[in-house]
Amino acid sequence: MYIKKEWSRKERYRTLLEVNDTEINELKGIVDSCPYRQRFHIQPTTGLLNDPNGFSYYNGEYHLFYQWFPLGPVHGIKHWYHVASKDLVYWRDYGVAIIPTEYFESHGAFSGSGIVKNDRLYLFYTGNTRNSEWTRHSYQCLAIMDRSNRITKNNNPIIKEIPSLYTDNFRDPKVFKEGGKYYCLIGAQKKANNLGTIVLYESNNLLDWNFNGEIKTNFFGNGFMWECPDYIKFDNKGVLIFCPQGLKAKGDNYNNIFQAGYLVGDMINFTNCKFEHGEFYELDRGFDFYAPQTVVCNDGRKVLIGWMGLPEIEYPSDKNGWAHCLTIPRELNLKNNKLTQKPIHELKILRNKKIRQTYILQNEEIIINNFNEKIYEMICTFKRIEGKKVGIKLKKGDTEETLFYYDIQQSKLIFDRGNSGENFATKYGSKRMCNYDGNYLKIHAFVDISSVEIFINDGEEVFTSRIFNSSTSTNINLFAQGYTDVDLKLYTLLS
Ligand code: FRU
Repeated sequence: MYIKKEWSRKERYRTLLEVNDTEINELKGIVDSCPYRQRFHIQPTTGLLNDPNGFSYYNGEYHLFYQWFPLGPVHGIKHWYHVASKDLVYWRDYGVAIIPTEYFESHGAFSGSGIVKNDRLYLFYTGNTRNSEWTRHSYQCLAIMDRSNRITKNNNPIIKEIPSLYTDNFRDPKVFKEGGKYYCLIGAQKKANNLGTIVLYESNNLLDWNFNGEIKTNFFGNGFMWECPDYIKFDNKGVLIFCPQGLKAKGDNYNNIFQAGYLVGDMINFTNCKFEHGEFYELDRGFDFYAPQTVVCNDGRKVLIGWMGLPEIEYPSDKNGWAHCLTIPRELNLKNNKLTQKPIHELKILRNKKIRQTYILQNEEIIINNFNEKIYEMICTFKRIEGKKVGIKLKKGDTEETLFYYDIQQSKLIFDRGNSGENFATKYGSKRMCNYDGNYLKIHAFVDISSVEIFINDGEEVFTSRIFNSSTSTNINLFAQGYTDVDLKLYTLLS
């Protein structure tokens, strides 16, 4: 089967119900033979995955849904796909969860969240519609899942009208409970100036919703649309997570097409919508990260999963009929008014063989012998660092390498995918960096077939990126231009 480059509107707006098995199976054949298929990340069986949705703990399991267009690697009509897990590592496939068939979702079941009430999982999402002039109208919709994972859509949207101050870019409801009441944050755009913002609704029963107002942040004025709001709390602090679109690149910041980040402050005041907060931080320093969503675990941990991809970018796997995956789950904590993000400890169950080595590097580059794995976890600690640069080369072959290093003279951590393999999104550069200072550096990396997620010093920074290297580029090198002690742990991983 030939994977189309140009998609007509008609082709993009067919649901799964309008496709026969032969077409899907042919597409699946192409997808399955793609050399870039991941081994331990959530990825679509065919077509395009984007935002994680409805992330929740219900009925003894974590439920996670994602935005899905089944028929190809484009943003066509969005469905919800359902997976569930007891440990956040091994996910069971429940297939398609929401197929957009109703008038209030005629052009897609867009992103949203989940909350448990009376032993049911309430799933809130945006019904995206277009009229014959292609003008958008968004509805906020509800579907309810029972203990046997049966999902029933509410007959009508629960928020039909958009308050007059906002455009039809009004989506991604995040619902949570606070002091006996339910609240819903929605990403929005103001009519007056086409700037992004977030609005708040309130409800006593999850069915009738009142508009409370706009979250008053000092960050207002940045970006034309804010997508995918989320809100978590640590003691007396509130963290507002969202994706402002349209921030201009500024030094090492905001270099991807769109951003995902957060504001830490006092708790949001849900009566007057005031939010006193500090500066906006990006959640991730890598190339491919967007639209994250959090869950509060049954033991109280806050865990985040993001979309390892970005809107409006073509990826090398497109030609094989699929695009994107989700990140591994990360545990969030608050340290000095910044979030730290660590890979969840449950991921240790994927560990298989372990290799441990120590090295002293002095103006040299070494290759790790007898290790040619395609998927692995690496914990590499550099100590007593001196000189110009220390770092690692992952997925190294004759002509390819994925570079991560500490440039001591520039005081920067630098991730360079310029020679990683098939290039893409090069318009947005091939290096990402952030400030760093210290004579110690711990790099914790999760490497899958076509991605690298690098956690620095137990989650102070994360660099998440897709990498499309040839299957023979499997070496790992360590180098120092100067001096360092290295403690290296490598684990092969189960798929
Ligand atoms: C973010 C987003 C959301 C929207 C969804 C549609 O990536 O644009 O705002 O609900 O994707 O798939």
